[in-house]
Amino acid sequence: VNFFEDVKPLLMKNIPNRFLNLLRLLGTYGDDCDIPIYVVGGFVRDLFLGIENFDIDLVVEGNGMEFAKYVAKQLDVKVVEHEKFLTASLFFKDGFRIDVATARTEYYDKPAELPKVDISTIKKDLYRRDFTINAMAIKLNSKEFGMLYDFFGSRKDLEEGIIRVLHKLSFVEDPTRMVRAVRFEQRFDFRIEDETLEILKETLEGGYLERVTGQRIRQELEKILQEKDPVKGIKRLSELNILNRIFPKTYFTVLMEKKLKNMFLVFKRLKNIYSKNNIFYAVLRIFLEFYDVETLKSVMQRYGLPKKFVEELKKMEKRIIPVIEMIKMRIKFSDIYKILGKPVFETAAHILAYLDDEDSKNYFFEYLERVFTVKLNLSGNVLKEKFKIKSSPEIGKIMGEIFCMKLDNPYINEMEKLKEILGGRNG
Ligand code: CTP
Repeated sequence: VNFFEDVKPLLMKNIPNRFLNLLRLLGTYGDDCDIPIYVVGGFVRDLFLGIENFDIDLVVEGNGMEFAKYVAKQLDVKVVEHEKFLTASLFFKDGFRIDVATARTEYYDKPAELPKVDISTIKKDLYRRDFTINAMAIKLNSKEFGMLYDFFGSRKDLEEGIIRVLHKLSFVEDPTRMVRAVRFEQRFDFRIEDETLEILKETLEGGYLERVTGQRIRQELEKILQEKDPVKGIKRLSELNILNRIFPKTYFTVLMEKKLKNMFLVFKRLKNIYSKNNIFYAVLRIFLEFYDVETLKSVMQRYGLPKKFVEELKKMEKRIIPVIEMIKMRIKFSDIYKILGKPVFETAAHILAYLDDEDSKNYFFEYLERVFTVKLNLSGNVLKEKFKIKSSPEIGKIMGEIFCMKLDNPYINEMEKLKEILGGRNG
């Protein structure tokens, strides 16, 4: 078998010129330092898939940090070193970034712990990676520029659309790869290869996912939510019993699928209204519906969910259905406001997850628009000074009343309404 192939023609065809020049330049810097330089991982995979990917991961057979510092000096860019992992990142002024790693074999003291690092060669570096499709390298040094290193049948798997681990302990070494397997499978419409699927199931049943920090699982989940069809990914996670290991009381039903789909359809529109918009929290609102307090508490701790998030979830538990009914019945905004107030992003998303028809969605969006834009011209001071109302709660109540009127009709005359309210009270 030939592990090497000249893929310069493909690089020249698929990679924009200024980018290709940068790769060549990096190769010559490798020549200067007398060390082999490779571009690896997602960039190489996507090159063959014809997908644009400008995430550059370099692997250096030598000292990655020294090389990164050399490049930083030549190109006058910022370098950040991560001594512990023998890696470094280069930050270009236009926001572009290159990660540099030292070719290494990682070994793990205990599974699910962060890897220790040892110096070794490119083949070993590729072997410790997640899947064959991510385990190719292209050499950048000028003599061999464009040479593909494919030791593990990566190209074949890529052509056949297969997600395959490189060795049996891959998922044990890094259990978050089980979530990654689903992500790549769904993104490329690939298939997890049979033996890999067996190993995945065994590792899952071995309880290895539970040994990973919640933070790392959360990161991989969030990546699934950024994919083109996240609901498909979530469904697959559930099918493989992975979702259940992450959220023990979450059951993916037809109804949940529908709610999630509704939600993802409105995120773009919601983001126009909310600058604070965490999709992960919104999805969690669906996952964690109907949880008992105990389980909710443990999930909250494991995934570092803010207290506020859980409080809001609890608060809305009994209100969500009534609010939805009110929206469907087109009850006036001021009455909805009395129950819902100004909802946070994930509560708005939660409500929209329950709304199927466009008219109801539009009505609710109109509500959001209204509660966040309506402002009173009247101030508490006017009430205090001109109308001699002294008690603050009283002032708050009156202002609230006028705000509600304005929610239903933004064109009211505030002063007139104020006089009506006061008149009503006095006589
Ligand atoms: N990797 C790994 N195990 C992990 C995470 C990453 O082996 N748990 C390796 C893979 O070789 C991967 C590379 O590190 O290609 C970079 O990781 P990442 O940026 O997360 O993934 P990409 O493959 O670049 O995928 P994406 O297109 O989603 O960025």
